[in-house]
Amino acid sequence: MGLYNLLRKGLFSVPPEIAHDLALDSLKLGNSMGMRNWLCQKPENDPCTVMGIEFPNRIGIAAGLDKNGDYINALGGLGLGFLEIGTVTPLAQAGNPQPRMFRLEESQALINRLGFNNKGVDHLVSQVKKRRWQGVLGINIGKNKDTPNASAVDDYLHCLEKVYPYADYITLNISSPNTEGLRDLQSVDELQKLLVSMNTRKQQLAQEHGKLVPLVLKIAPDLTTDQVTPMANCIAENQIDAVIASNTTISRSSVSGQKHANEAGGLSGAPLFDLANQCLKNFRQALPEHISLIGTGGISSAADGLEKRRLGADLVQVYTGFIYNGPGLIYDLSKAFAKSAGTPQD
Ligand SMILES: Cc1cc2nc3c(=O)[nH]c(=O)nc-3n(C[C@H](O)[C@H](O)[C@H](O)COP(=O)(O)O)c2cc1C
Repeated sequence: MGLYNLLRKGLFSVPPEIAHDLALDSLKLGNSMGMRNWLCQKPENDPCTVMGIEFPNRIGIAAGLDKNGDYINALGGLGLGFLEIGTVTPLAQAGNPQPRMFRLEESQALINRLGFNNKGVDHLVSQVKKRRWQGVLGINIGKNKDTPNASAVDDYLHCLEKVYPYADYITLNISSPNTEGLRDLQSVDELQKLLVSMNTRKQQLAQEHGKLVPLVLKIAPDLTTDQVTPMANCIAENQIDAVIASNTTISRSSVSGQKHANEAGGLSGAPLFDLANQCLKNFRQALPEHISLIGTGGISSAADGLEKRRLGADLVQVYTGFIYNGPGLIYDLSKAFAKSAGTPQD
């Protein structure tokens, strides 16, 4: 049994949210003690340029694992191609009452309804300023629960301005199922309003700070097929640089009958793989080629990562598969990607 399998056994014997904090604190401790490669080999060097940014490899950790930027050095020390922190909101908020995270071990999945629990954008920025890891850092922003959708743009603008000088790219998260009404921002009228404001402010911030930070949109896998083309047009018109497909799903068809399957929230992990892939494929077809895609959802093996690449993902992110399989997953993906480099895509 590998070291991570042993660790996982221990971690899975306590409730998921406690395990989450324990795992990250242990990683932080291991990293601060210089045990850089204690859990897995360093991922292969496989450089690429996406959104004008140079990545050492194509594998990142998805948003939500380090919501506050408290673990940047520890996670970065795993040799990631990039790390996305957040979702962060203008003000700190507690999120939904516990329990709000559930393991569906049978299918290597999680359901969460955390509800953007975070320490607020000022805390995150102070953590980013202190970081030692200098890898590619994405910052994922959202709106506070108490902000009505009519003023959601103000929350996104507030966070955009705060994080702009410190981010390599900024993700607009309009697809968490755990903030009431958030996904309504995906409707074309709302999306247009949001993206026009964000793009206009981004151009001004680029002048002020002397750097153009790419904007990325994170979408839900539960969109209907007729939403795809109008959204893609709106994304292209407003100079969004990449799309993350996808966030968690509210569908339960792939886990029906399993323990916890009826808990409210977003489902992630292996049962999300096909749905997220369909979403990735739809957006690859609908978006112009210069807009990049980050494939997220259900990656638990190197083969899963290769499938995302085949469907058009320029980069991939892991979350739930990383919890179940450990940092070895990042190494396996990097090896597979490095080996397949140069292989033509479909
Ligand atoms: C516990 C948990 C918390 C999450 N929090 C966020 C978040 O704050 N912001 C966000 O954009 N996505 C969040 N996500 C979604 C992930 O970033 C990712 O898009 C999704 O889990 C699919 O990938 P996976 O199947 O590899 O987990 C969260 C996922 C989980 C499991």
